[in-house]
Amino acid sequence: MSLHTLPGLVDVHVHLRVPGGEHKETVASGTSAALAGGVTAVLAMPNTSPPITDGASLDAARAAHAEARCDVGIFLGATDDNAEAAAAAADGACGLKIYVNETFGPLRVEALPTLAAHFAAWPRGKPIVLHAEEVAVATAIGLGATYGQHVHIAHVSRAQEIELIAAAKQAGLRVTCEVAPHHLFLCETDLPRLGTFGLMRPPLARPADRDALWSHLDAVDCIATDHAPHSREEKAGPKPPPGVPGLETTLPLMLTAVHEGRLTLERLVELCSTTPARLFGIETPNESSVEVEIGPARQLPERGWQTKPDWSAFAGMTVHGRVLRTTLRGQVVFEDGRITARPGAGRVLFG
Ligand code: NCD
Ligand code: ZN
Repeated sequence: MSLHTLPGLVDVHVHLRVPGGEHKETVASGTSAALAGGVTAVLAMPNTSPPITDGASLDAARAAHAEARCDVGIFLGATDDNAEAAAAAADGACGLKIYVNETFGPLRVEALPTLAAHFAAWPRGKPIVLHAEEVAVATAIGLGATYGQHVHIAHVSRAQEIELIAAAKQAGLRVTCEVAPHHLFLCETDLPRLGTFGLMRPPLARPADRDALWSHLDAVDCIATDHAPHSREEKAGPKPPPGVPGLETTLPLMLTAVHEGRLTLERLVELCSTTPARLFGIETPNESSVEVEIGPARQLPERGWQTKPDWSAFAGMTVHGRVLRTTLRGQVVFEDGRITARPGAGRVLFG
């Protein structure tokens, strides 16, 4: 067994569901889940109800996160007609999120003139994050190169996508990407076992896609969870929404990969903390750290998570990693399985 102290994790793709989705997750439960996972800063997605698309909705969302227990940055979301309004509010956001492909919530932009308007208007210097699958990855890279924008591809899941991104990087284009743990540790062969609890966008892919993500790990910039909580009732119901929680399982899974020799601890720290912090302009505060253990095998539990829906698609998997203690700006905020952070211990970033 070995003990290690790492910098606090920075997760650039999290759905905190505030405002409007508090039956799925609240600021308290979502930011507690982050701390229990060793994550000291999260970037929250704008597909809320109402969505975060302009200065007024961003200000309201920022105010609603005042009780956060970890640091939180908030994305603006693109719509068909908010290119100017989003750009005008950019100072208070961590980036612009564009959903090119269909997923949970009404935010979606797929027409070229509208996409181009966003790329033209958005201030250079903060990333444009795209939910772009398959051929849409090429659209995103092309628009970024044309308009001189930093394009960040969310939750890359297929061999064809990571191969194109690796080639674009080789060609010197300013494109970065993230991969979610569920696409590294699960694939479509897990679906019969998981049922509707294994549905997310992008979907679990073929074993060959999962393997390609591992073999192209040098082209991956960040591990980001796409923590997308939905209640057990919703997932088991007639119209199961896509998405799985992930904040509390990233380190147990990634530390298991270290244990198995699939990546080094130094590379884990780059992928989960230092590179996402640098790409999104987040200062990882001094004295924010996570103490972890690599060693004894255990099974991830069905229940007992901080995230409000209290389920995990990874339950039952054998892991060799555990979060022991999380410290935020010198204060112990998670220890021995308990949250010790006070509400408001986190900061709303980009203010
Ligand atoms: C996300 C959600 O539930 O908000 N769902 C998902 O399957 N990933 C939306 C998204 O990130 O695409
Ligand atoms: Zn998402």
